[in-house]
Amino acid sequence: MKFLQAVRKMSQSSPEVHLSALRLKYHDRKDAFLEDNISVKNPFCVFRDWLDLALKTPEILEPNAAALATVSADGKPSNRFVLVKDATADGFTFFTNYGSRKAADIAANPNVAISFYWLPLRRSVRIEGVAEKISREDSLKYFHQRPRASQIGAAASPQSQQIPSRSYLDEVEAGIKEKLGANGEVPLPNWGGYLVRPDLIEFWQGQTDRLHDRIRFRRGAGVESEIDGKHVHKGEDGWIYERLAP
Ligand SMILES: Cc1cc2nc3c(=O)[nH]c(=O)nc-3n(C[C@H](O)[C@H](O)[C@H](O)COP(=O)(O)O)c2cc1C
Repeated sequence: MKFLQAVRKMSQSSPEVHLSALRLKYHDRKDAFLEDNISVKNPFCVFRDWLDLALKTPEILEPNAAALATVSADGKPSNRFVLVKDATADGFTFFTNYGSRKAADIAANPNVAISFYWLPLRRSVRIEGVAEKISREDSLKYFHQRPRASQIGAAASPQSQQIPSRSYLDEVEAGIKEKLGANGEVPLPNWGGYLVRPDLIEFWQGQTDRLHDRIRFRRGAGVESEIDGKHVHKGEDGWIYERLAP
């Protein structure tokens, strides 16, 4: 609460609040996130546990919101938030416009990174992997599960393109509604899902003494040769894991 009040105060440009003075209480030492707390050493299982807790935490209004970072053809990074709509042992799925800036980046370089931050839990998950388009069939299935207004909205918006005004979108939306009539099915626009298959998943938990916990899982060609039982450990299903200094 104190933190929120401080942030609010700051947003009113109060001269006495400085960003450098903001201190949020994190986990106590007795709640450290330890390797022993991970019963199955597969990051998808850990992610599922953490997500389940985030889903049960009422203060977290959108537990599936995550920052997605991409890199353009000329090597420039950018990021934006997306809603992760599926998290399975295959990876993490989000939906977007296939003509958007992020889609152009992914076409040029499919390596992406995703970060979740669940502030009330003082936890973050950081993912790196390769994005691929899901099948048109699966995109269509999800598209038609969305409220009709959202389907029309997606069809009306040339995401990431310059548009002349807000009213331009209203006009395009009205045109689509007129064409489809009250109940016409909205055809799938240039829109769909990406599945991010991770090769790195890191779990971060904030500790009040700033000795935060970081446990990183990796998989991929040759990583198992790094296992030394001291810093790098064997996990399950081809994953290795290691603790990183905060
Ligand atoms: C919480 C939140 C969730 C969002 N979810 C999505 C999403 O799932 N898909 C999407 O295309 N844009 C989503 N957006 C909008 C994007 O952040 C971004 O504005 C848009 O995708 C265009 O990004 P781009 O020009 O880099 O492609 C979301 C924004 C916020 C703040």
